[in-house]
Amino acid sequence: MNSVQVRQLFLDFFKAKGHVIVPSAPMVIKNDPTLLFTNAGMNQFKDLFLGNAPILHPRVADTQKCLRVSGKHNDLEEVGVDTYHHTMFEMLGNWSFGDYFKKEAIAWSWELLTEVYKIDQRQLYVSVFEGFKDENLAFDQESYDCWAELLKKAGLNPEERILRGNKKDNFWEMGDTGPCGPCTEIHVDLRPDRNDPSAALGKSLVNQGHPQVIEIWNNVFMEFNRKADGSLEKLPAQHVDTGMGFERLCMVLQNKRSSYDTDIFQPLIGLISKACGVVYGQKERTDIAMRVIADHVRAISFSIADGQLPSNTGAGYVIRRILRRAVRYGYQALGFKEPFIFQLVQVLADQMGEAFPELKRERVLIEKVIKEEELSFFKTLSHGLIKIETIINYISNSKGNVGNFQKVLSGFDAFELYDTYGFPIDLTELIARENGFTVDMDGFATHMEQQKSRSREATSLETGDWVISQNSMNMHADFHPDGYKSPEGASQKEASQKSKVKGERGEVQFVGYEQMECESKIVMYRKVKIKNKEQFQLVLDKTPFYAESGGQVGDTGYLDNGEEKISILDTKKENGVIIHYADKFPKESGKVFKAIVNREKRIFTQNNHSATHLLHAALRKVLGTHVEQKGSLVNDEYLRFDFSHFSKVTEEELKKIEQLVNEKIRENIPSEVREMPIELAKKTGAMALFGEKYGEVVRVVTFDVNYSIELCGGTHVSATGRIGLFKIVSEAAVAAGVRRMEAITSVRAEEFVNSRLTELQQVKELLGNPKETVKSVNELKSLNTELRKQNEALLREKAQLIKAELKVKLKIVNGINFISERIVLDSSEAIKDLSFELKNEINNLVMVLGAEVKGKPSLSVIISDNLVKEKKLNAGTMIRDLAKEIQGGGGGQPFYATAGGSNLSGLGKALEKARSLLETSSV
Ligand code: SER
Repeated sequence: MNSVQVRQLFLDFFKAKGHVIVPSAPMVIKNDPTLLFTNAGMNQFKDLFLGNAPILHPRVADTQKCLRVSGKHNDLEEVGVDTYHHTMFEMLGNWSFGDYFKKEAIAWSWELLTEVYKIDQRQLYVSVFEGFKDENLAFDQESYDCWAELLKKAGLNPEERILRGNKKDNFWEMGDTGPCGPCTEIHVDLRPDRNDPSAALGKSLVNQGHPQVIEIWNNVFMEFNRKADGSLEKLPAQHVDTGMGFERLCMVLQNKRSSYDTDIFQPLIGLISKACGVVYGQKERTDIAMRVIADHVRAISFSIADGQLPSNTGAGYVIRRILRRAVRYGYQALGFKEPFIFQLVQVLADQMGEAFPELKRERVLIEKVIKEEELSFFKTLSHGLIKIETIINYISNSKGNVGNFQKVLSGFDAFELYDTYGFPIDLTELIARENGFTVDMDGFATHMEQQKSRSREATSLETGDWVISQNSMNMHADFHPDGYKSPEGASQKEASQKSKVKGERGEVQFVGYEQMECESKIVMYRKVKIKNKEQFQLVLDKTPFYAESGGQVGDTGYLDNGEEKISILDTKKENGVIIHYADKFPKESGKVFKAIVNREKRIFTQNNHSATHLLHAALRKVLGTHVEQKGSLVNDEYLRFDFSHFSKVTEEELKKIEQLVNEKIRENIPSEVREMPIELAKKTGAMALFGEKYGEVVRVVTFDVNYSIELCGGTHVSATGRIGLFKIVSEAAVAAGVRRMEAITSVRAEEFVNSRLTELQQVKELLGNPKETVKSVNELKSLNTELRKQNEALLREKAQLIKAELKVKLKIVNGINFISERIVLDSSEAIKDLSFELKNEINNLVMVLGAEVKGKPSLSVIISDNLVKEKKLNAGTMIRDLAKEIQGGGGGQPFYATAGGSNLSGLGKALEKARSLLETSSV
């Protein structure tokens, strides 16, 4: 059974059981400060479990792209080393949202595995939660009974097949906080000799890290929400969340010993092996490297396809590190010294492009980005190699004559290599070992720890639990955070912020599309500590504050109840809830406040947001429809727009783009905002963002149906004329195939144009207000060039005269032709030329010249080559000595050196000193 069939059978099975098949959510998560990547199939349903979003389909199934490289679920270090862990993997899942529970979930998993996939029942073991007294969690008797009944029916002994697992293995939690519950895991025994009487009992190997007795499916029964204070509270309803590792399932069904041996990975490994000329399956070291690359290229490619480019922060940094890990393994173990990984993208797209069309669509971009990253990392690596060689040579040279010195690379050096040059410690150790050195590992560990605690401090965030405000309890007697209804679902783009969403137990309204102030009450709040600074996060029953989303920054402003004014520093969303960041907590929090948005900031911001839409459409018109949004930032100062395009935007194109946007501004096109089903929106040709999660109802912003239609949750101008003026201020590359444009609008654009005009006016005045400024500047430039030439010619003439004088002044000191004179020549270049000419004309020469150059004393020494060689005279040493007299310093080569200083009156002394140095032969 090939992997495509395996995936399809799963989806078909649950479809037949009444499940709606939904697409995978993006792997890279946007707008959620608590999670960078989807690490489990259930992430996209978090709000449904918590009761924060309406349940549209009570039964759902899918295959979800997951990445486990950071946070609570982090498998990165295992990947490649063993034969069944992955960074990116597909999780097949079926969900019940308040619908079926343990009995059906367990029965269906057994049916699918044994009857559809036809796995031998005797290969399966299951675990159920043993309970945990400290948290009052009971043994999961219900799951046990469900399994016992199925096993008995199959003629198997439940006691031999059901294990009791502890909280670590059998109580699943998404993160430090959030939905959680007991789970039952299904394990498969793949040992070829499992039926031998002498073989260990399969049961005894479950969860023991045995590579052939592995977990394939986890059925979680979501019953609780873990709060920030560590306590558990019952969820409003009970749910099922299951996750089956697709790659492992394929390994089982294709009867392989490793998931890397399945048809998912073999084409990739085949290409890697061909490219490096190493056969897979022969040596552990090279096998690990091939597995690492085959795994990592998937993680990176899917992330880029989801719109996440490698970068130095957040999710982008994680991607960069994964890629670097792959490059490093290829470099160290397989001898790849040039970009190679990008070539695997085509294979991956061919293989997975049907199930995940984004891979095919974005293939060229993915290849370019990976190749560029590889190139730049190779550069870093080679700088690091030079660095490590320099350190080793330095230690060897400076201590080499001390005899039995210790060949140890310090912890600091090893850390610097790691931190700045991306050298993993094992690579440093290897190179050190090859040079007979060891590495101070304890020192390295200390530096690492220091860095970790530095970054912990820099990003530390302590979040308290939500407190329901007293007044809201009165207002909505049964209001509860888990019953809190988001006005817009998890994503800004997902649904409208406009409507009032009524929940079973509370209601919250976003009125910011129409109003910039309203009366509000605080319904809940919590205390947070960001980098040791205390702040408060407030949720209001009704708010005009726009929460950061879709590139548009969050609103600022204040709450005012006549007695107190609370500044709102920012507005963000978490799990679909609009959170206002306040610098202090009001004394009388139960009162009604006026919530007032900083109007000017919001207006400038929305000018820029609408201008971004006009720009996006203009780019597609001028450059072509390959242009796609890759990122955007919109604030009150400017707009930044990243888009796919493979060459620099020319001056002419820039002009056209700017002109088109300004034309659309002048047309004063009214904005039209509508909510509609996503399918309809797509039909109208609305531009959606790739890698963004959209709900079934979306908000569509149109500026002329024939010009710009975009899915967008942001705030916009009522008509484009309000934008006033649009000016592009920069255009540059941010990554291979991705350009960044920055632009300003309205008052900022006006200020920009005015400042340029003022500058021009000043230039005109300086030029004496000519009629044609450009012509006048050109004339000035030509005149300047002409004068320079004349000056140089005069200097040369003067130098010839000086040269003749100097020849006359030549003396013989200690058998050496010696000149030591002060000359009048105000140009270092001319002095140098003069010196070299005389060196060519006079043998056996030592010449010291002193001069005033640009008001400062200057010295030069030139020595004939034979004197440097035979008498070991050195101009560099000599000049350093002489420079003391002019209170300066200098240096150069043995045959020519120069110095500058600050004491002009010391020049004479310096020249005399030169003579006495030569006389005493102490040069
Ligand atoms: N949430 C569970 C897991 O990730 C089951 O889907 O393992």
